[in-house]
Amino acid sequence: MMLLRLVLVLTFLAVPLLSYGQKAKTIDELAKMYDASRCKTCHAEIYAQWEKSHHARPLMGVKGGLMLTPLALKKGEKGSTAFSEDSPGKMTIKNYPCFKCHLPQAVTSAEDSVAVELTEALLAKDAAKVGKLQITCIVCHHDKAIIHKRELGAPEKGVLYGKRDIPVHMDSTFKTVKKSAIFKDSVFCGQCHGLGPNLEFDQAFQCANLYGSYLHNYVSGGGTQSCQDCHMKNGDHLLAPNWNDDKASSELLAKAITLDVQTLGYEWLQKAGTLIPKVVVNTKITTSAGHRIPDG
Ligand code: HEC
Ligand code: HEC
Ligand code: HEC
Ligand code: HEC
Ligand code: HEC
Repeated sequence: MMLLRLVLVLTFLAVPLLSYGQKAKTIDELAKMYDASRCKTCHAEIYAQWEKSHHARPLMGVKGGLMLTPLALKKGEKGSTAFSEDSPGKMTIKNYPCFKCHLPQAVTSAEDSVAVELTEALLAKDAAKVGKLQITCIVCHHDKAIIHKRELGAPEKGVLYGKRDIPVHMDSTFKTVKKSAIFKDSVFCGQCHGLGPNLEFDQAFQCANLYGSYLHNYVSGGGTQSCQDCHMKNGDHLLAPNWNDDKASSELLAKAITLDVQTLGYEWLQKAGTLIPKVVVNTKITTSAGHRIPDG
């Protein structure tokens, strides 16, 4: 009996907090599953850039705005949405269709209890808790690395994906890096940066459409650069614009947008002795972006 108990205790201890394939029940469990803080030890510069990027705070909005709050409000309350429920306990992952792009790991790896906890945190304006949910290195370099899963299979356990094969990678969990077919292509970003309205939900809505405008305006007009060419020069993971940094954003916009103004002033001789001043103003605004701006 004693031996059996010991064996049972040992088996229990040997089971990790969350085994592969099991879903997270709390925000902390989900954050831990996708935690990439250890990548900092060896990829310090990239980590520092990512930490300042919007991908590191996808539920926080610009300047800590907690922009998912309207969904958390009570159904019918002023400012609530069609996805709101009459109590936080009824919220599920499906009530946050935003997760498709703002937190894809919630769709694949979280129980509905995470949606309940998030709703309570949003209502309590608990920014520290909401801020734990991020598009980490693992979301991009693992979960989002393969789009042809029927042919290529799902991303493999213990494997990261990047631009090339690295048979021995020194991380404790991801011991190999494999070449992803899409990492250099705009379609990689297009998975989240939107083609148009999200029509697959029972309540259609629109958020980011930038990939649609890139394909149907920029590429079809002869544009040749990828998102990565313009936004990730030398592997830059800040992926500017960072709207929380006003100075850098206005410098970027000043470089990206040109305004050409031509004016003609004249006087119109309406009738003898009556001159009416007139002005013609021609303005031309051009942008070097590979898509519509603003978006989102
Ligand atoms: C102990 C150090 C170490 C840790 C920890 C580590 N890496 Fe690496 N990683 C490296 C080294 C070194 C290389 C380059 C290997 C080479 O050039 O052969 C690399 C390469 C990579 C590449 C491939 C880059 C390319 O050229 O395409 C990716 C992606 C990557 N790491 C992501 C991560 C992520 C994400 C984490 C955290 C989950 C992580 N690494 C943790 C050391 C580390
Ligand atoms: C198709 C993917 C997608 C879906 C679905 C989506 N978003 Fe977004 N959203 C984005 C991307 C990408 C950006 C940032 C880039 C941009 O604005 O072009 C963004 C930006 C935003 C912004 C402006 C920036 C900010 O952080 O304040 C808000 C607010 C926002 N989303 C709210 C939502 C809400 C609420 C939902 C769910 C009802 C949602 N989004 C669903 C992809 C999506
Ligand atoms: C939004 C998605 C996304 C996130 C988040 C992300 N990466 Fe990347 N990463 C990419 C893409 C795309 C490339 C290839 C860029 C290019 O074409 O040069 C890349 C390239 C790299 C490279 C190779 C850089 C080089 O110069 O060749 C390393 C190493 C890397 N990432 C590590 C990380 C680490 C570590 C993190 C987390 C701190 C991280 N990435 C987060 C998308 C992402
Ligand atoms: C997993 C989904 C996902 C992927 C993949 C992804 N993004 Fe994003 N990206 C987002 C979301 C969500 C935001 C907005 C976060 C927020 O609300 O602040 C964002 C924000 C940005 C921003 C900041 C500007 C803004 O308006 O928020 C830029 C620039 C950007 N992404 C470019 C890229 C590029 C380039 C790639 C491909 C290399 C890429 N992203 C891949 C989801 C993604
Ligand atoms: C030819 C270069 C170029 C290409 C290609 C390009 N971008 Fe941009 N992008 C820019 C510039 C420049 C800005 C800043 C100008 C601005 O926001 O007014 C920008 C701004 C953005 C923003 C902020 C949008 C906003 O509301 O102002 C996002 C998000 C973004 N890009 C994502 C992407 C994604 C995703 C792709 C690929 C589908 C892409 N970009 C392709 C140059 C480019």
